[in-house]
Amino acid sequence: AITVDPKATGAKIDDTMYGVFFEDINRAADGGLYAELVQNRSFEYSTADNRSYTPLTSWATTGTAATADDDGRLNARNRTYLALGAGSSVTNSGYNTGLSVQEGETYDFSVWARADGSAALTVTLQDADGELAQARRVTARGGWARYTARLTATRTSATGRLTVASGSPAALDMISLIPRDTYKGHGLRADLARKIAALDPGFVRFPGGCLVNTGSMKGYDEESGWERRRAYQWKDTIGPVEQRATNANFWGYNQSYGLGYYEYFQFSEDIGAMPLPVVPALVTGCGQNQAVDDDALLKRHIQDTLDLIEFANGPVTSEWGKKRAKMGHPKPFGLTHLAVGNEENLPNEYFERFKQFRAAVEAKYPDVTVVSNSGPDDSGSTFDTAWKLNREANVDLVDEHYYNSPQWFLQNNDRYDSYDRSGPKVFLGEYASQGNTFRNALSEAAFMTGLERNADVVKLASYAPLLANEDYVQWRPDLIWFNNHASWNSANYEVQKLFMRNVGDRVVPSRATGTPSVIGPVTGAVGLSTWATSAAYDDVKVTGADGTELLADDFSGDASRWTHTGGGSWSVQDGQYVQSDEAAENTMVSAGDPAWHDYDVHVKATKKAGK
Ligand code: AHR
Repeated sequence: AITVDPKATGAKIDDTMYGVFFEDINRAADGGLYAELVQNRSFEYSTADNRSYTPLTSWATTGTAATADDDGRLNARNRTYLALGAGSSVTNSGYNTGLSVQEGETYDFSVWARADGSAALTVTLQDADGELAQARRVTARGGWARYTARLTATRTSATGRLTVASGSPAALDMISLIPRDTYKGHGLRADLARKIAALDPGFVRFPGGCLVNTGSMKGYDEESGWERRRAYQWKDTIGPVEQRATNANFWGYNQSYGLGYYEYFQFSEDIGAMPLPVVPALVTGCGQNQAVDDDALLKRHIQDTLDLIEFANGPVTSEWGKKRAKMGHPKPFGLTHLAVGNEENLPNEYFERFKQFRAAVEAKYPDVTVVSNSGPDDSGSTFDTAWKLNREANVDLVDEHYYNSPQWFLQNNDRYDSYDRSGPKVFLGEYASQGNTFRNALSEAAFMTGLERNADVVKLASYAPLLANEDYVQWRPDLIWFNNHASWNSANYEVQKLFMRNVGDRVVPSRATGTPSVIGPVTGAVGLSTWATSAAYDDVKVTGADGTELLADDFSGDASRWTHTGGGSWSVQDGQYVQSDEAAENTMVSAGDPAWHDYDVHVKATKKAGK
């Protein structure tokens, strides 16, 4: 029986209680929410991003065509360009099966070009069945300049190819095709943005995740073109797109930053959500786990954080407010919260730095809440130390993350019942049960009733990750799935939507008696989602029983990024780290994704020498 006392007053539930967490993982940005249809538009793909990349990845050429990185470049932050000979052409194959276009829709083509004298460029869009739009002609003259044309699709196709052919020698860069129809006209793919907006999120946490606190903390070097593999540094991501230096994404691909901080703020505003950016704390995480000892660099990052607040909130007369206005938004974005760091494994080193960020922000912007975190785990000594330090430092909000089994979510509904009511509040910035089945979603719904019951302690919560392109998956489960022409919701999405669109004002205290029925046993799904293998393993391969490759990466440099948490056990055999094949839990199912079926999953990795 359930007893409810309607007169009793429970905790207040904030409108911002449930939000979304956007990270550029699984091609969530380029090839996802960012509406650009051309892949590798600036010829900046490199082996530094992914061993299989070259500057011509996703391009095919005819005639004389070669990429160049020399003094003739477009600018110091956009180094590689394409030199096309007379009568030559270059064709882009987009993401997934190609460039996806809809009959009757218009697409904005643009290119930066340079020509000695003049060069007539012919722009065509076609698939294997022929033309998809009437060809357009632009004439490039002299030094680097941007040329545009509009193409209207005469047929719908998901296998389009964009070709630029030149009658005379020309240098090309930033070859772009973007649909006119983007979400609120702000450059984001409409179907994905609408699905996120339909959740009615209270906040958007961005831009990551591991993306934020891994890699080099140094800035882009205009002299050499490096550092590549930089931690996410917001200043890299604003201003004209052709001046945003691309980066090697922690998740193994190139990141154009076409979706950058301005766009994140704009999107948050467009969907009525509070923006909640995360900046690096100068302690790396996600398997890297190093404290960066460089005082000057720390000071620079702290200043960058102050500048970020000015970019978001400052008057148009301020240095950074002026840049925001120039990009099209003179009104402030109204930033109230920002987080420093993500899942740092070294709580003491993290806190030393966190406190310096917070002191600087509080001194200049006392109304901005600076969020800290509790490390990568939901329990254990790092977690305990982090929480102790959070309490001692009287932190306002602590970001907790966990990816656990559905059973865990069912069994831990009471997790926050015992949290200290007078201590720091919780921002549950990332959580998911390990799968996209209905059962997973149900376990999350059950758990969320516990979050809401404890709304005096849990102030913000977001499922993670938000988006996954089905052909570029680094992490599953995910909330919304898509390819180049379609998108579909997971069962978990429906749960998030239910809670987000029905946020109450107050908890009405209730009591249940009797034995609740148990949803079990839970077979769950494979959760390749923790960092346990850390830097110890190389050549990790994840395959189905039939040998189908489910996930693969060379895992060099940044350490192996996956481990198997779905059941069964790991062992070392003949120098190989091998996942036993015994687990009944090894099921990989995605709601709405008929391509995935009950894989037995095998994980193999070679142990690195000396580990
Ligand atoms: O959500 C995917 C990853 O999980 C995030 O990048 C990281 O913060 C966490 O470990």
